Amino acid sequence: MVRVCFVCLGNICRSPTAEGIMQSLIRDAHLHEQIDVDSAGLGAYHVGAPPDRRAKEASEARGIGLNSRARQFTAEDFSSFDYVIAMDAENRQDLLNLAPDGEARAKVHLLRVFDLTAPADAEVPDPYYGGPHGFDNVFDMCQVACQGLLQTIRAEYQFN
Ligand code: 4NP
Repeated sequence: MVRVCFVCLGNICRSPTAEGIMQSLIRDAHLHEQIDVDSAGLGAYHVGAPPDRRAKEASEARGIGLNSRARQFTAEDFSSFDYVIAMDAENRQDLLNLAPDGEARAKVHLLRVFDLTAPADAEVPDPYYGGPHGFDNVFDMCQVACQGLLQTIRAEYQFN
């Protein structure tokens, strides 16, 4: 099993959106027995909470349901995942600071590096304090990047 964890700050907006999209892509590709997806947050403010209503609405409008509960990412999570996917540069830095060793640090990637049309170091911006448009933007960015991430995993693990 290849394990992927999407990580943002609160685990109620961006990472649950990426998790829902990736789960849908994996199911469509019949790879749900090979690839497992989770999400977590670096902050603890929303632990136990469902995804933000605005994130759910933006995703449901595209046919993707979000059913996660927020949890905090811990250093121990590095041993459970092959890919630890950060939404923005601050998340990435926080993950690198939390990583116990080089093997763990090598698992950390910015999500949008898997979108080959995005500029280097492109981020998925925090939509929490913005309007609903920000959530559609997050969805679109996550969708394109998750397609690229799935292609990368398929190539690396030779899932055809
Ligand atoms: P997320 O969005 O990191 O995409 O889940 C946020 C959710 C909550 C907060 C910040 C960002 N907050 O400060 O409470």
